[in-house]
Amino acid sequence: MKTEIIKCNMENFKPECIAEAAVCLGQGGLVAFPTETVYGLGGDGLNPEAARKIYAAKGRPSDNPLILHIADEKSVNVLAEEISDKAYALMETFWPGPLTIILKKKAVVPLTTTGGLDTVAIRMPSHPVALELIRQSGVYIAAPSANASGRPSPASASHVYEDLAGKIDYILDGGRVDIGIESTIIDMTGGNPVILRPGYITPEQLNKVIGSVEMDPASVGASPEISPRAPGMKYTHYAPRGRLSIVTGSPEAVVSRINGLVREKQAAGYKVGVLAPLETADRYHADMVFTMGRRTEPGTVAARLYTCLREFDEKGIAFMYSESFAGDSLGNAVMNRLLKAAGHRVIHADSQAEAK
Ligand code: TXA
Ligand code: MG
Repeated sequence: MKTEIIKCNMENFKPECIAEAAVCLGQGGLVAFPTETVYGLGGDGLNPEAARKIYAAKGRPSDNPLILHIADEKSVNVLAEEISDKAYALMETFWPGPLTIILKKKAVVPLTTTGGLDTVAIRMPSHPVALELIRQSGVYIAAPSANASGRPSPASASHVYEDLAGKIDYILDGGRVDIGIESTIIDMTGGNPVILRPGYITPEQLNKVIGSVEMDPASVGASPEISPRAPGMKYTHYAPRGRLSIVTGSPEAVVSRINGLVREKQAAGYKVGVLAPLETADRYHADMVFTMGRRTEPGTVAARLYTCLREFDEKGIAFMYSESFAGDSLGNAVMNRLLKAAGHRVIHADSQAEAK
């Protein structure tokens, strides 16, 4: 299959430019498109055959459910039932935007799309290309992140092309995404709302609208042994090919520990990389130092994260060390991805203890 790339001029976006891709999607084809979080791989969410094609293109396990993307709030009532007032309040406040809400599904949503679950994940993206694609195709678009399973989520059309060329019909190129990490997922099916995946919308923001929210302990990355409630969170996601470790501790100790580790691995003949924020990047001496934005502006760190992980692979780096980014809520969302990319390998700079 030839994958066609359609360039969308975002300064002056003309809806007609995506018309043929929208028709293709409506007829069961696969179209990757930009959202404000990461690029998505879209197919008709109510067509089990399209959902199967999505799983196949990504090499994704079929028990890992897909998010349905909608362009107007009334679509929620077509797809889901038993929707609480709190769930409506979340839609009112955060849609269109980077919040995915888990609701009880209606029969119209095939089990192929929900990975066999009786619940469905729904999100209204804010990116104009995403919204236009949903409207023009006339379908509810099932879209996981448009990476091959196990690779970092794509922040640009070229990332999608690297992973999925020849496996999908179209890529709509809307330039680099804004946020850079996936949407926050909140489960609104039970008594207490639970965050299954941290993201750009923070627990504090959610709390202001609906009161208390719990955090699925597995999503904070505290322990890899706890089974997460979002099936996709159990897979080793976002994994770069080289071996990534995260170094925590007081700032000075982290810098000197990382430089020490770099020297050690270089002496053994390996190419070594460091992932650091702008504030400290120039203090490292490695084969490559990747800057992740400013520590004081976690949004800029999130925006660079997946691109850095992909660049590590391109440069053939064998070992890489990252500073830790926990702290505020968005920092925690970044750490959730980093910990997974690192297979939970954390080195404590202040002690000599080291996780494997
Ligand atoms: O920002 C995003 O959410 C991006 C863009 C493209 O919208 N999409 C995305 O999709 O990240 P994906 O498939 O890579 O991640 C979806 C996550 C998976 O961890 C999946 O297990 C979980 O959502 N999920 C989907 N439906 C669910 C459900 N009914 N119950 C629990 N978790 C669910
Ligand atoms: Mg994904």
